[in-house]
Amino acid sequence: MADYSKIQVTPYASALGAVIGGVDLASVDDDTYLEVRRALMEHQVIFFEDQHMTPEQHLAFGRRFGSLNIHDFVGGMEEHPEIVEVRKEPEDERNFGGAWHVDVIYLEEPPLGSILYAKEIPGIGGDTLFANQVAAYDALSKGMKDMLDGMTAIATPALIYGTQSTDWSKTSSMNSSPTATAEGEVEHPVVRVHPETGRKSLFLSGKFTPRFKDMTMEESAPLMDYLFAHQTKPQFCCRFKWAENAVAFWDNRCVMHYALNDYPGQRRLMHRVAVNGDRPH
Ligand code: SIN
Repeated sequence: MADYSKIQVTPYASALGAVIGGVDLASVDDDTYLEVRRALMEHQVIFFEDQHMTPEQHLAFGRRFGSLNIHDFVGGMEEHPEIVEVRKEPEDERNFGGAWHVDVIYLEEPPLGSILYAKEIPGIGGDTLFANQVAAYDALSKGMKDMLDGMTAIATPALIYGTQSTDWSKTSSMNSSPTATAEGEVEHPVVRVHPETGRKSLFLSGKFTPRFKDMTMEESAPLMDYLFAHQTKPQFCCRFKWAENAVAFWDNRCVMHYALNDYPGQRRLMHRVAVNGDRPH
């Protein structure tokens, strides 16, 4: 366990996650930033309680870690396009992020991480699940690891945001409609090496990675389905129960997440900032 002098780090679950104390995210000095970054590498998702940030302070905290992503298919706040409002209104049936996924994996350089800030939460429900993809990789057999180490996946937004989308229905966060611009494909290693920790993790994301390179979707499906079920086994997961003004910061390079949609008739509003990442290898 690393030593920290500026922050308190309390593990949240044995699979992944830690609660970070002693930090005001509205103003983070250099030494605190370095310890927060170290805690993120060590625990993969970190949680902060009772934070009071303006949108500008949320953006400034994100920029400590790198430049910020502007989502191609989901509009940001009018004044701050880098902040996505993850919003479910009482009359909405669908929520944003309501399936296991890696954020924006279909970019050539998917985000390093996302910083989600709870503005308004339901009385009960609306938790977020996180799954440790280093642990998921480590738990595979040597034979499976050896095979996957050499494989490449095709990532695309087409099945979610494109005209091929099979389950499109508008949510309050997704203020656009299926679009022909969402048809591009990029190649990513199925197993990526974390650029900071050197640890290997599975890097697949359900409908955003529908097939392996040089294979059809039908041919890919048996192994993809096996891996998708494996990636989210309970032993690799933690479940975060939100309080208003809590913040979750996950390392998108080695963590999947899932926003539960179990609060019909209630409102949930979060602000999400995603920090740009690098090309997976
Ligand atoms: C997301 O997928 O980024 C949203 C997660 C959440 O709302 O809990």
